[in-house]
Amino acid sequence: MTDTRTGLAGAAESSSAAPVAAFDPAVIRADFPLISTPREKRLIYLDSAATSQKPLAVLDAMDRYYRNYNANIHRGVYRIAEEATAAYEDARRRFAKFVNAASPREVIFTRNSTEAINLVAYAWGRWQLKAGDAIVLTPMEHHSNLVPWHILAAERGIELRFIPLTGDGQLDVTALPGLMADGKVKLVSFVHVSNVLGTVNPAAEITRVAKEHGATVLVDASQSAAHMKLDVRAIGADFVACTAHKMLGPTGIGMLWGRRELLEAMPPFLGGGEMIREVHLTSSKWNELPWKFEAGTMAIAEAVGLGAAIAYLEKLGMDAVFAHDRDLSAYALERMTEIPGLRVLGPAADKRGGVVAFTLENVHPHDVATVLDSDGICVRAGHHCAMPLHDQLGIPASARASFHCYSLREEVDALVESLHRARKIFAR
Ligand SMILES: Cc1ncc(COP(=O)(O)O)c(C=O)c1O
Repeated sequence: MTDTRTGLAGAAESSSAAPVAAFDPAVIRADFPLISTPREKRLIYLDSAATSQKPLAVLDAMDRYYRNYNANIHRGVYRIAEEATAAYEDARRRFAKFVNAASPREVIFTRNSTEAINLVAYAWGRWQLKAGDAIVLTPMEHHSNLVPWHILAAERGIELRFIPLTGDGQLDVTALPGLMADGKVKLVSFVHVSNVLGTVNPAAEITRVAKEHGATVLVDASQSAAHMKLDVRAIGADFVACTAHKMLGPTGIGMLWGRRELLEAMPPFLGGGEMIREVHLTSSKWNELPWKFEAGTMAIAEAVGLGAAIAYLEKLGMDAVFAHDRDLSAYALERMTEIPGLRVLGPAADKRGGVVAFTLENVHPHDVATVLDSDGICVRAGHHCAMPLHDQLGIPASARASFHCYSLREEVDALVESLHRARKIFAR
């Protein structure tokens, strides 16, 4: 069953591969050399929302590509070039299946989700939007789902509107029909899971309302694809942007899923080799999907790594990964209440994924992160590429702990202990 509010699939369809018998992060960790290799000083990695660690399966797959069949794709007729092409296209097929796309042709490889969103802003936005139109966003967007629209809005005279936040850091979706009532809104673009508040937004519900008002919908799934079963068809949006490096995969490759008719009709984003069918001195014709949007030599080794990362996640089972993240968030929220002056940003644990951002009274988040680092704990401090959200919350910055399949309760305990220490160090 798929939850019609969030677009999340239920346990029965969590994974195309059988989940491992028992989900044990202590066992899973052994697959991640960076965090499992003994070192002089302990390393507690609580920054998976920035980028996840990579399992051996991913490192090995990329190493095998470079050692055994490194060649450019779609060009050579020799054996290793065909092997490289097959591996690259296999990664596309795997991702398409992973997010329940109707066809691999609907999956465009990009550099990351930032580029996926920019692809939509440039190719779809400049094709479809004109002065007087409006775009609905949210205050909890990562800069990558704000700045491309700022550029387009300034260029075209487009108005930006925002779904308001509730007091506990959720979206007030009841405001959406009012924001769209004048018929000017042509695009609704929002984050599925906030990288600061952790909030899991009701993607399917927002999409339904947006569609009832005739808008195109883009979902930034950068934080959700890595942690939960993402079903693009259940959400019902037109575009979904993802990034491999948060999904246990390598940096340098992202994915844009788009509805086929829309991608077919859109003009290309970047021009150059590979994205063309015919080139003449003064004109060219585009390749078919998905290659129309993949100009130049793509990130081949990274696609191979992504394929291995998806296979790994499928083996874990995405429902198990999500349940684990949520369990750790709930535990962190509970333990953090012990720390005087600590304010957790965002909603209750049952409304969030594996992200816990917080402030500590009278201590700057950078100082918090520095004390934690001296205890071997990696957290992010700053605005997390969400300055407008921090403005709304009335704070310049926050510290953030975030989890993945390999994170442990003991690591949360260490975090809490170190936070007590930070508070004491900076006590007035
Ligand atoms: C919610 C969200 N959107 C977009 C991005 C951008 O991802 P990338 O830098 O891989 O393009 C991030 C990365 O932190 C994110 O958390």
